[in-house]
Amino acid sequence: PPLDRILSLADMEIVARQVLSYKALAYYSSAADDEFTNRENARAFLRFFFKPRVMRPVSFCDPSTTILGFRSSIPVFVSGAALAKLGHPDGEANITRGARQGDIIQMVSSNASLSYAEIAQAADPAQTLFFQLYKHKDDEIAVKRIQEVESLGYKALFLTVDAIVAGNRESDIRSPWVLEEQENGPLYFNQEEKKPEAGLNVFGTAGALVANDDRDMTWEKTIPWLRSITKLPVVVKGIQCVEDAVLAVEAGVDGILLSNHGGRQLEFSLPPMEVLYALRRERPDVFDRVEVYIDGGVQRGTDVVKALCLGAKAVGLGRPFLYAQSAYGTAGVSKLVEILQREILTAMRLLGASSIHELRPEMIQRVDWEPR
Ligand code: FNR
Repeated sequence: PPLDRILSLADMEIVARQVLSYKALAYYSSAADDEFTNRENARAFLRFFFKPRVMRPVSFCDPSTTILGFRSSIPVFVSGAALAKLGHPDGEANITRGARQGDIIQMVSSNASLSYAEIAQAADPAQTLFFQLYKHKDDEIAVKRIQEVESLGYKALFLTVDAIVAGNRESDIRSPWVLEEQENGPLYFNQEEKKPEAGLNVFGTAGALVANDDRDMTWEKTIPWLRSITKLPVVVKGIQCVEDAVLAVEAGVDGILLSNHGGRQLEFSLPPMEVLYALRRERPDVFDRVEVYIDGGVQRGTDVVKALCLGAKAVGLGRPFLYAQSAYGTAGVSKLVEILQREILTAMRLLGASSIHELRPEMIQRVDWEPR
């Protein structure tokens, strides 16, 4: 269908499911075990309702914000997801160009299918790119990767901590070895140290992608080490409980991304929206000390606004950007931003908020039932 028929993220996903190959869809859509956490990530938003305020002036309404000091037209960013070439020959560059058109920030995966340099080249010089870091178990290799992206102009490191081993993603494991197929040219050449071996496919794509990552990271060792080798801001991606949010703050990070990897890692890890709610109630001081983000299951502008009411600085989306670039390339990505922007603006106005700062915890209420 023509792009102007696409009204929602769900519409975009329907088209993507028709164009994606079986294995690409298996890799993109899969989640751990019986995929409960993946579904609950989205369903968690259904338990939060607004308390809109009326009779407030909203003809002027500004949904823009900053993330780590970098401008973003809406409080949304691209969460780094691997292997964009599986869905479209231009891969991550679609997301880069679409993010520029929509004026949002892209976090580039360590396991991108284009090289970090190619993605940086697709960007406008003034555009902000962040880097999602999988730390190699060999510190020297890790340092090289960090120095490379730092010199390419990436502006922050999102250290992923929830994927020290791959979750059990059965549809991905069942599908043929995606990395061998390379229908759209080389999928994966950034990391010579991680050449996939035939026969490893029993672990699925994800298993091979994280095979050489550091499984022994600690707060005491890894964060100070990162600080010692880079000046870039450090965000920890994959915080799944209040206790670890506090430890991250104490370790001196610049931000935390509450995330369970889109339900792809530990099945029955709590939905990030619930962790955010717990953090707001139990440790509101955390929001004054670091920037807090969430990702997982975001489908609507109202989801974004709900997270912001609870104190999130911005919200990440993974699969929706992969689906958009698979279905329509760059235009799909900028359309996705446009849809979210329209939905966020409508929600803010109807809520009585003319700027991001006016989104407050008092404007949201958690219920113990959810709509059917
Ligand atoms: C991911 N995610 C991910 N995270 C990460 O830190 N490094 C990575 O390489 C990847 N790769 C990846 C591939 C695919 C296909 C998906 C769907 C996800 C997780 C991603 O950053 C993000 O946390 C989730 O995608 C958020 O959930 P939603 O928006 O997909 O529901």
